[in-house]
Amino acid sequence: MLSQYLYISTAPSLSRDEVESILASSARNNPAKDITGLLLYNGRNFLQLIEGDEAELVELMVRITHDPRHTGISILEQRKIDQRSCPDWSMKRVLIAESIEKRRELLEAELPKRLDPDIRKIVVNFALLN
Ligand SMILES: Cc1cc2nc3c(=O)[nH]c(=O)nc-3n(C[C@H](O)[C@H](O)[C@H](O)COP(=O)(O)O)c2cc1C
Repeated sequence: MLSQYLYISTAPSLSRDEVESILASSARNNPAKDITGLLLYNGRNFLQLIEGDEAELVELMVRITHDPRHTGISILEQRKIDQRSCPDWSMKRVLIAESIEKRRELLEAELPKRLDPDIRKIVVNFALLN
């Protein structure tokens, strides 16, 4: 059974290296677990979408919850899905553009077409904060 989790967490002032190391772990581990998704970091908070087999996601969420690099995990969505939104991304870093005017436009181009409209709205709103 395929599921999707969307959560936010707090991680003030992580270095570029720390974020890179999270992405490297994801690239190393997620393909074997058939987990896909996307990750945004705005300098204070993460927003992550993970999708895959429910049991694998529960296992990953336990690991992520215990990761000292962030705190205050709050799950925004947790649901069964028929098909993945990000089938080609083991964990895609979605960058938030410097220019606030261009953020929405650039995100719309980068986010997968199949992303559920409600989740797309949350991702775009997260990126438009500040
Ligand atoms: C915001 C955030 C997102 C993460 N996402 C993943 C992920 O998708 N896959 C993963 O294996 N580890 C992820 N991690 C890292 C895990 O918490 C853990 O450090 C890692 O899985 C340990 O595996 P490793 O020893 O291969 O690095 C994430 C950590 C953070 C803080």
